[in-house]
Amino acid sequence: MSEKPWDGRFAEKTDCRVEKFTSSIDIDRRLYAYDIEGSIAHCRMLGSAGIITPEEAATLIQGLGTIKREIERGQFEFDDGLEDIHMHIEARLLQVAGKVAQKLHTARSRNDQVALDVRMYLKAQTHAVIKGLVGLEKVIVALARKHLGLVMPGYTHLQRAQPVLLSHHLMAYYEMFTRDVERFRECLKRIDVMPLGTAALAGTTYPIDREQTAELLGFAKVSTNSIDSVADRDFIIEFLGAAAICMMHFSRLGEELILWSSSEFAFVDLPDAFATGSSIMPQKKNPDVPELVRGKTGRVVGDLVAMLTIMKSLPLAYDRDMQEDKQPMMDAVDTLQACIEVVTGMLPCLKFNSDTMRAAASKGFLNATDLADYLVMKGVPFREAHGSVGQAVSYALDHGKELQELTLEELKKISGVIDEDIFDLLTVETMIDRRKSAGGTATANVKAAIDAAEEGFARREE
Ligand code: ARG
Repeated sequence: MSEKPWDGRFAEKTDCRVEKFTSSIDIDRRLYAYDIEGSIAHCRMLGSAGIITPEEAATLIQGLGTIKREIERGQFEFDDGLEDIHMHIEARLLQVAGKVAQKLHTARSRNDQVALDVRMYLKAQTHAVIKGLVGLEKVIVALARKHLGLVMPGYTHLQRAQPVLLSHHLMAYYEMFTRDVERFRECLKRIDVMPLGTAALAGTTYPIDREQTAELLGFAKVSTNSIDSVADRDFIIEFLGAAAICMMHFSRLGEELILWSSSEFAFVDLPDAFATGSSIMPQKKNPDVPELVRGKTGRVVGDLVAMLTIMKSLPLAYDRDMQEDKQPMMDAVDTLQACIEVVTGMLPCLKFNSDTMRAAASKGFLNATDLADYLVMKGVPFREAHGSVGQAVSYALDHGKELQELTLEELKKISGVIDEDIFDLLTVETMIDRRKSAGGTATANVKAAIDAAEEGFARREE
């Protein structure tokens, strides 16, 4: 049973079940470095504002440095009775630096402190996530460059629709992850706000300099309303929103890799190093990595919903409910980073089965739209052309042929305007390369998109 810094008015000791129940140390101990950095900046500011003496500030800062080293070396003792990382560090500072440690908490409260630590943590993690996602984008673009020319069926309703370049399909994921990076950058604007100096909720009577603290900690600005400072967790919710969307993208990619690596599709072979086997069926190679990516998406969506639900009815300013913010936040950060890491490692090792993909794009009337477009070009109204080609498909099905395998005579029976020049238009390459509309799958377009992406990477690195 520890002595509490707040137990002056308490006649009874805290019940041990309450200590256990209210403790967050198992989770917030991960914030120790930010807590210490925040305290050091706070000390410096108190010192230069004359609220404590420069000697006192120096002693406190030295003590905080000692504690940081103790934690890093695993020489620090954690105890449920001390609730959270803030109280642990303050209690230890009393032992390390002596009575002057009691001055550290001047003009600040744990409410501001936890808001600060969480913002510092999330700022660093958001930068790391952005860096990881840019690395993933590079891998995707490199893959698109490597396989430029490889064709596959494009799908709607998971039914073969029209041929596309594999690279075009891959570049769709590049677009998705690029939007994710933009969203995380946008999150940073709201994360990068310094809440320290709120002193629980109303501001303080001490002549503190919040701008100085913000500058010392590298924050872009200070919070403007003391109540909002400690009551706000929007920035976590926004991060979780961006993380949930990003995970949804990973999940769709995972789902496609699961489908494509099945014998039914056989478009791709997953690298052995990124697959697992079955304990009973020796022939199996299972796509556990993309499956887990898909599964973990559920957890991150859950983290977002948890956080929204924690916050939804909280009266201003701080409520202890908010202590529950760290678990979903850290879980989402860890999960997202794990997915970025493993998918970035796996993608370059995928082996695409180009013959199977090409065969799948050449069968099943994926050129029906092109035949209809041809009729339209020859003056047939589109609806009529659609009907005629429908009949052609039905005729071809009955005769076990593809459209391009019908003779000119057979085609002429469908529509008199059809000529010899149709056959070139029904090949996979021509179909792809004629789709030159902005954003279409024509090789020239896809190559330009890849070039633009690579130039973007190079520009950002300058
Ligand atoms: N451990 C708390 C949290 O994570 C810190 C703030 C506690 N403040 C308080 N007044 N009990 O939210």
